[in-house]
Amino acid sequence: MKFQVPRGTRDILPGEVERWHWLEERTRAAMALYGYREVRTPIFEATELFVRSVGESTDIVRKELYTFQDRKGRSLTLRPEGTAPLVRAYLENPPLRAESPARLYYMGPMFRYERPQAGRYRQFWQIGAELLGSAQPEADAEMIDLFRAILSDVGLKSVTVLLNSLGDSVCRPRYREAIREYFKKHVDRLCGDCKERLETNPLRILDCKVPSCAPVIAGAPSVLDSLCAECAEHFEAVKRSLAGLGIAYEVDPRLVRGLDYYTRTVFEIHAAGLGAQNAVGGGGRYDQLVKDFGGPETPAIGFSIGMERLLLAVGDSAVPPPQGPDVCVIALEPGAQVEAQALARSLRGQLTEPETRRALRVMVDVAGRSANAQMKWASKIAARWAVFVPKGPEGYAVRDMAAGKDEAKQPSDEDLRRWLLGRRDLVESPR
Ligand code: HAM
Repeated sequence: MKFQVPRGTRDILPGEVERWHWLEERTRAAMALYGYREVRTPIFEATELFVRSVGESTDIVRKELYTFQDRKGRSLTLRPEGTAPLVRAYLENPPLRAESPARLYYMGPMFRYERPQAGRYRQFWQIGAELLGSAQPEADAEMIDLFRAILSDVGLKSVTVLLNSLGDSVCRPRYREAIREYFKKHVDRLCGDCKERLETNPLRILDCKVPSCAPVIAGAPSVLDSLCAECAEHFEAVKRSLAGLGIAYEVDPRLVRGLDYYTRTVFEIHAAGLGAQNAVGGGGRYDQLVKDFGGPETPAIGFSIGMERLLLAVGDSAVPPPQGPDVCVIALEPGAQVEAQALARSLRGQLTEPETRRALRVMVDVAGRSANAQMKWASKIAARWAVFVPKGPEGYAVRDMAAGKDEAKQPSDEDLRRWLLGRRDLVESPR
């Protein structure tokens, strides 16, 4: 029997996983600079959590949930997104509410039963940030600025910020009626799905990608024309804040997003080179969600970035190449294997040196290779130095692998370690 990775999922292997580490480190650093702290929520939640927040009539809830019953018959769902779980955690854990606004982030896999294609998976990773407890337009600007900062820190500079406002509970129902009326008049030209959306969720028609719907959508009334005075003012203030931060954006009145919890500001960032799936990420305000979950009035805003898409958009050039070990310890004779392993451990120094920068990456053969084969292996994995055991009368022999040059012998473990660290830091410091 041959097993395969489930459709729409993938293994992230050494060689590629370093790019993920790099992205994760960069993102964590950016989050820290803006004062956002990480929350790790479970991979699954009560199904109802997503039905109530993402929305019953959305594609995510109708078609894409991974839902199962546990042994006690509870309905659970693999999280399709991170905002609803974070809001649940926010309400459940008083320390998260100690500071207002709360600035939180998460990173991890999400699950949607979608048709797989480039940049679209059934298990995919998101980085998300949420700011809970401010209705101010500056919060919207901070979010978009943080989003941009993460992209720019990983070398993605040419992006397009799309911005829209969906109004609130005062003006959105008015708009929904207006477009329902409009699309009713053109119902014959709509695709089957859109005919259904007309009843359940007419705003979603604006997001339909079926070509035959495009001309009807193009003529639809703009949401921006039906904003109430407060929403219109908020939108203007967000635009002013963005301009103040020097962030370019395009207003896109057709941007509706695929989740129902949004109010007022919504945004997406698009990057070239992603084909049909050109949104690196998106987000928006959700001023009612905390209240809908039984919490106090807590206006909030957030975004998520698709990590696969971000890595695709960044390409290889920005990512530092994977590094080989600093040292391979070579056992010159079979009896020297224990000595080789002991030296390797002492060189790593991981127990005594808390700072990884001072720790050496050391590998040693455990496959019973001959001395010759160990040397071949050391050069294949791009070790910088080979150190030979058993130790000779003058100390350890050391070879610079790239230069093929023998270095001065080192009398003791400690001398060897200091010499290696000194040389490595010398080489690494200009970076
Ligand atoms: P979303 O637009 O559904 O928003 O997803 C955000 C990003 O996740 C997308 O722009 C895309 O990069 C990535 N993504 C979504 N589905 C897939 C997939 N099947 N395969 C690969 N990548 C995918 C949210 O999830 C909201 N929670 C964002 C948010 C946070 N709004 C407020 N706070």
